[in-house]
Amino acid sequence: MSARVMAENQPESFKFRAEFLERAHRIIAKYPSSRQASAVIPLLDLAQRQEGWVSRAAMEHVGEMLDMASIRVMEVATFYTMFKLAPAGRNHLQVCTSLSCWLRGSNDVVKACKEKLGIGFGEVTPDGAFSMEEVECAGACVNAPVVAVGDDYYEDVDYASTGKLIEALRRGEKLPNHGSVTGRDGSAPAGDKTSLTDDPTIKIPKQDLAAAKAAFEKAKADAAAKAAAPPPPPPKPANPAP
Ligand code: FES
Repeated sequence: MSARVMAENQPESFKFRAEFLERAHRIIAKYPSSRQASAVIPLLDLAQRQEGWVSRAAMEHVGEMLDMASIRVMEVATFYTMFKLAPAGRNHLQVCTSLSCWLRGSNDVVKACKEKLGIGFGEVTPDGAFSMEEVECAGACVNAPVVAVGDDYYEDVDYASTGKLIEALRRGEKLPNHGSVTGRDGSAPAGDKTSLTDDPTIKIPKQDLAAAKAAFEKAKADAAAKAAAPPPPPPKPANPAP
């Protein structure tokens, strides 16, 4: 279960920088004037992209811009694990431990993160390079388990591949393409197919619909004739015993 704890040290104030403010106004303009609260998630996301996390001051500022009570903004920010409630490391790892990921080995992924980074959930390495966080379903269950690095998802990870990912980040290397680290094609089965096993290149012979219709009509007529036929005579009673 991920803990959503706001940082103890909070900045006094928050303001969008010019380029972010312009984007914020463009987002708000997409909604009718009485529905500007719908922009709360994209604005919180902008605040996070500017500062690296979402402070209480940022939530209040977003609330003022959208004419929302700041508690309502806080409810949104604290619900979604995509929003960081405290300053994070330069590489922020989000490890999903919900049901699908847990069934598929997220305990090993957590173990690899803790061993390689020497920190636990909600902590930042002393050099500020890494932080890690436990999250609820990341929405990629079909390729579980999943670890997110920033905006990118790495899927089908295990102890070894998580360790390699962290080492590559530590060396500042370009990471492999995000998605399945085992090379699974999209969300195709991890092993052999268990359904839709027909060869899609084989053409299914065309059905003779006219013949099928004629057979159906004949069966229907036969059934009707049988129903209309007089019932068979009752069996003759057996001769009484002399
Ligand atoms: S349970 Fe982990 S992505 Fe859904």
